[in-house]
Amino acid sequence: VRRALKQQPDIKYLSVVHSETPSTTLNPVREIGRIAQEFGVITIVDTVSGLGGEFLSPEDWGIDIAIAGPQKCLGGTPGLTIMSVSPAAWQAMEKKNPPHRGAYNSLLDFKDKWIDNRVFPFTPLVTEVYALESVLMQVLEEGLERYTARHGAIARACRAGVKGMGLELWAAREEIAGAAVTGVTVPAGLTDEAILSAMRERYGLMITGALGEIKGKLIRLGHMGKAAHPFFLAGQLGVLERVLADLGWPVQFGAGVGAAMAALEGWDF
Ligand SMILES: Cc1ncc(COP(=O)(O)O)c(C=O)c1O
Repeated sequence: VRRALKQQPDIKYLSVVHSETPSTTLNPVREIGRIAQEFGVITIVDTVSGLGGEFLSPEDWGIDIAIAGPQKCLGGTPGLTIMSVSPAAWQAMEKKNPPHRGAYNSLLDFKDKWIDNRVFPFTPLVTEVYALESVLMQVLEEGLERYTARHGAIARACRAGVKGMGLELWAAREEIAGAAVTGVTVPAGLTDEAILSAMRERYGLMITGALGEIKGKLIRLGHMGKAAHPFFLAGQLGVLERVLADLGWPVQFGAGVGAAMAALEGWDF
């Protein structure tokens, strides 16, 4: 990032995904944000599946705009966008000629009306606001640090389970594996579609594969929000063991679930 910003001094904005949900991996947004800040570049971070699962500190990390959703690690309903906006990002929006105004997605309109004057610029989606408040209260009751650590612990246990049943993690290194979802490389001789459809049709458990150029190469076990719990983890790993055996892959029943539960020692859910 530093090399690119040095070579192209006209770069004004940098955008990066914090937790790449399709590939189940993380980008080092703290380091990237700090480098971009040195160059006066506005950094926009998609932390849609990061917030609540990964630690994030936009002010300390030089992140100007962080965008999240209630429906991932916060365990809420889809429909709203949650954002943090730095003073530098507000200035950049105000300096734009002409500024983006008079539209539902004009952040400046929201700032003038709601942040500065407590008048919502449009009819608010009150049901979604109440739903978001409810999950945020639950996060605060548990404590943000513990909430995030719980996602980390379940993700680690999931990885232990995947390895325990002889499967390969999609992430090249565990340090870059995210807390929202765990990617499992589709074992040789099987297809993602065969695994996913057997899980869904025979056992009523829906998980997904990947998207874009990595589609077909991995399946994803989710552990966001309420699903960041041993109950859902054991269920997914147990059904995956069953399905792999159904498809003729050599499975030692209990190896994955056992390794995952062993990795949760000391945790109180
Ligand atoms: C990393 C990431 N960014 C953006 C999105 C899009 O969020 P939405 O569907 O709420 O627009 C998703 C949704 O899956 C996501 O995982």
